Amino acid sequence: MTLPFCESYKIKSIEPLYKSSREQRIQWLSEANYNLFNLRSEQVFIDLLTDSGTGAMSQQQWAEIMNGDESYAGSRSYYKLKESIEEIFGFNYFLPTHQGRAAENVLFSALVKAGDIVPGNAHFDTTKGHIEFRKAEAIDCTISEANNSSLFHPFKGNVDTGKLEAVLKSTSREKIPLIILTLTCNTTGGQPVSMQNIKEVHALSRKYGIPLFFDSARFAENAWFIKQREAAFLDISIKDIVKEMFSYSDGMTMSSKKDGIVNIGGFIGFRDKELYRAATSFNIMFEGFISYGGMAGRDMAALAQGLREVIEVDYLETRIRQVEFLGEELRSAGVPIQLPVGGHAVFIDALKFLPNVKREEFVAQTLALELYIEGGVRGVEIGSLMADRDPISRENRFPEMEMVRLAIPRRVYTNSHMEYVAAVVKNVFARRENIKNGYKIVWEAEILRHFTIELAKI
Ligand code: F0G
Repeated sequence: MTLPFCESYKIKSIEPLYKSSREQRIQWLSEANYNLFNLRSEQVFIDLLTDSGTGAMSQQQWAEIMNGDESYAGSRSYYKLKESIEEIFGFNYFLPTHQGRAAENVLFSALVKAGDIVPGNAHFDTTKGHIEFRKAEAIDCTISEANNSSLFHPFKGNVDTGKLEAVLKSTSREKIPLIILTLTCNTTGGQPVSMQNIKEVHALSRKYGIPLFFDSARFAENAWFIKQREAAFLDISIKDIVKEMFSYSDGMTMSSKKDGIVNIGGFIGFRDKELYRAATSFNIMFEGFISYGGMAGRDMAALAQGLREVIEVDYLETRIRQVEFLGEELRSAGVPIQLPVGGHAVFIDALKFLPNVKREEFVAQTLALELYIEGGVRGVEIGSLMADRDPISRENRFPEMEMVRLAIPRRVYTNSHMEYVAAVVKNVFARRENIKNGYKIVWEAEILRHFTIELAKI
């Protein structure tokens, strides 16, 4: 008998989960103005809001917490992190930041100005927010296959190089400070970008003389998919795949809360010393001195270790298989999800799931709220609430897809938790015809509104 796959770690420390009744959850939701971000964590049973900063650290990482050096300048932990970044990504210059959006803030302060254009593959909302905040424009050049959830494409994070080249051709060079490639592409469903596509985007960036940066929050998951789905990389180690991926970039922004497997942290990697220097002033102003930039020494030490663990095959196989497990439970029950399943989450196609709810009534948010009511499972809307209003017309933007993301924290839940989640989704699916009314906005912020929005039932 072939032995089955199982996790390559065991549990040392546990945390309680809190059960609740449907009546309690209905009450709590109304108190939270139908915004899942407003719930207390004890009001949630299985929390799939995000895989960001929610992972479980290893015993080696906890040991690094004790080893942390809190010196303001020249900290040993900073040098440890520098060594990991040089070795794994090949960048000689880096700046620590307190998280990914802070890295974006610092880098864009040095690079992006009003009227600029920043093309890429479906920028994440904070990336887009930081671009639009500077009165610049993020242009999404993702392949159109990404917007068809039932279509199988191995790399739905890929850039349509034709679209990208059209943008590069029709815009003056000075107006494009950088191209951003998000690996994996969170917005399209945690979907990977192929090495082939990375190379092609790199070639375009050289042809037009524009720096290429990677938004690298889930770089290791991207490398795993390259290994699985691009024949030439089957026998190449994840470490070597990562090295090659980053050899095509001029720098990276990183939210270490994902593939750094730490609870807080980020950084920017640079190849160019001048750009590093320009960004340094902003880092000192916004984040902190260059050798800690918003991170405690102990957090940098844990991150230096996390970056090494995240590229281990055993870890990645366990991780991706769990996401696949949940995806397969849902797909085989006929639940419409983005296929193939991505690296960090299962994305449910809300337009197909709830055909009786109008888009104007925020169909994906409606589904996310139903999952919470059904079983205390908290996902997140990736749809028109998150898309914000158009900065100029102030009209609601309706993206091609309305999704609910069930993001799985790293090394936290077991597969029986995933079976529970699948049962919750299937129960809502069974009563989908009766869900007809959505929600309306009562209050919203001008930018990144989904975090703080207040809604009312229609
Ligand atoms: N880039 C990507 C692709 C992300 O997914 C995120 C965060 C960021 C940048 C910003 O990083 O949170 O450390 O400031 N994504 C989280 C999520 C919030 O839930 O997907 P951050």
